Amino acid sequence: MTGQISESKINEVREQTDIVELISQYVSLKRSGANHTGLCPFHAEKSPSFSVNSARQFFHCFGCGVGGDVFSFLMKIEGLAFPDAVRRLAKQVGVELEERSFSPEEELRERQRERLYRVNEVAAAYFHQLLMEDPLGEPARKYMKIRGYGRKAAGEYRVGFALDSWEGLKKHLEEQGLAADDARTLGLIRPGKQGRGDYDLFRGRLIFPVYDLSGRIVAFAGRVLDDGKPKYINSPESPIYHKGRVLFGLYQARQAMRQSGEVLLVEGYFDQLALYRAGFPQVVATCGTALTSDHARLLKRYVQRVVLLFDQDPAGKKATFKAMTVLQEEGVPASVIELPRGDDPDSFIQRYGADAFRDRLEKARSAMDLFIDDVLAEAGNGIEQKVRAAEQIVEQISGLSSELEQDLYLKDLAQRSDIDLEQLKQVKRKVTGRRQQQKNHYSAPLPEDYPLPEVPFAPLEGGDYSAPDRQVESKTAWSRSEETLLCLLLQNYVDREKVIAAGGLSLFNHPAAQDVAQTLLAYSTDSGFDLQSIIEKLDPDKASVLMALSGCDQGQFSENVDVIFTDCLKALQQEQNKRQREESLNRIRQFEQDKDTKNSNDLLKEFTNLK
Ligand code: GTP
Ligand code: MN
Repeated sequence: MTGQISESKINEVREQTDIVELISQYVSLKRSGANHTGLCPFHAEKSPSFSVNSARQFFHCFGCGVGGDVFSFLMKIEGLAFPDAVRRLAKQVGVELEERSFSPEEELRERQRERLYRVNEVAAAYFHQLLMEDPLGEPARKYMKIRGYGRKAAGEYRVGFALDSWEGLKKHLEEQGLAADDARTLGLIRPGKQGRGDYDLFRGRLIFPVYDLSGRIVAFAGRVLDDGKPKYINSPESPIYHKGRVLFGLYQARQAMRQSGEVLLVEGYFDQLALYRAGFPQVVATCGTALTSDHARLLKRYVQRVVLLFDQDPAGKKATFKAMTVLQEEGVPASVIELPRGDDPDSFIQRYGADAFRDRLEKARSAMDLFIDDVLAEAGNGIEQKVRAAEQIVEQISGLSSELEQDLYLKDLAQRSDIDLEQLKQVKRKVTGRRQQQKNHYSAPLPEDYPLPEVPFAPLEGGDYSAPDRQVESKTAWSRSEETLLCLLLQNYVDREKVIAAGGLSLFNHPAAQDVAQTLLAYSTDSGFDLQSIIEKLDPDKASVLMALSGCDQGQFSENVDVIFTDCLKALQQEQNKRQREESLNRIRQFEQDKDTKNSNDLLKEFTNLK
């Protein structure tokens, strides 16, 4: 979608938007000199370190380092993707975006999505009404009460109830004139087998709607009211629901997350509800799935750290460490709250109350710390097992984005394992080397949802540009296409004019190739390049390179020189693009690392323009 808004329009919107006015809608700003200052909305603070520069149309927080332009502000505060931020501001300042019109297929898909939201909306209202008003909703109301919830909580989340009947929702949707097809796509009704009619997915269950960031309902989860199995049923994935990208409660929790800079990540719907209500509104739950890197990136928009609160059993531990790794890859530190075995956040709060939980939250340990403990404990005292364990831990430590942190944990590990620090460092070097080799060049974290330059990221999926050995090669030698083109020139298969027209020296990247090309272009005449006559004019080094080149062909060019030439240009063009990609990637990486954001505002602007 990013490609659909032109750069000039983006600039126009940026220029038309008054950043002070925009930010004032969220932060109370006071003028101080050329700037406006206030309390940062992105981290908790008592004295203002958040500053807005209206002349340069930038904001910056000296406390937490965030900064950027009107778009980045809106993206961060509202959790919007870049194009949506542009659209929203465009509307406010009255700039027509003239987006490229949808193709007929896109149009259809878009219309389908709108219908799906509508069906979910109608279904949610139906379920909710049953829970709140209907005499048949009594068992569900009773169940909510047992779990400690009244009308208020049910209203806030629009919790509902699905009748214990096969066609309750199905008939309701029919009455509303909604297409059964759409309800089937959402999984709300399922096609009956052997000639029987469709039937409802959710029957006799308490219903939790799952919202997206705009507050639209994308899915439902249904819990049985007793010990029946399965305990939970969830909506299947659909064009509007991808469980790996949605977090239950995020819509409700995001303001609190932003303010506290942290999020509590739990596994259960009721855990989310329980913490939210107990005064920890910065809480979200995964929807019956493991934490994905999409989730991690989503969370990163709002918080600086994630507190994991999974089940206190081996499976929960495994999930904890897996989540830690996923978060680590996105550069988000994770800590862990430990609860008594057998408790989940919901039951803990019921049993011990909110203060006890706050206490635990304050004592949250870093997930890596717990990991080290856990792996070492499991290994026991055998030397070999201990070394294995240490290797496993070092592997995990090497994944941390901060070198400083890596060092601290290594020291910690040395102490705890009684293994010499130097030796651990050596293991780390080995692991890091291996990592570096495996690492795809394009897997570096990118600024989320920024309109990345179209070309640089084209090869993200399956591009072969980044094979490490190729990289090394290209640094030490000129490329095959460079050589071929030089041969063509040297042996007068192509005119110098043609080469110049195609870009001349700029076609070559390797300094040696550039050097030779320069000589060839300089000494070529209308009748071509005469190696013999100029060879004595050149210094011996250059001459010998040319001599070597002159032996490169032997007839292979004679027939299809034009094709070879065109292919060659194409390849060189690609090599050039590749270099540009790498360059912008490096800059983006730098930008990511550049937590001292002095330059990052400017870079941010540059990236926006790079598109
Ligand atoms: P409550 O008993 O309602 O408090 O649930 P819980 O969250 O304590 O349950 P549990 O720890 O067993 O499960 C955690 C989460 O896993 C749930 O919130 C669901 O998202 C998911 N889950 C649990 N049981 C099932 C199931 O039978 N099917 C599916 N699809 N998901 C489940
Ligand atoms: Mn529970």
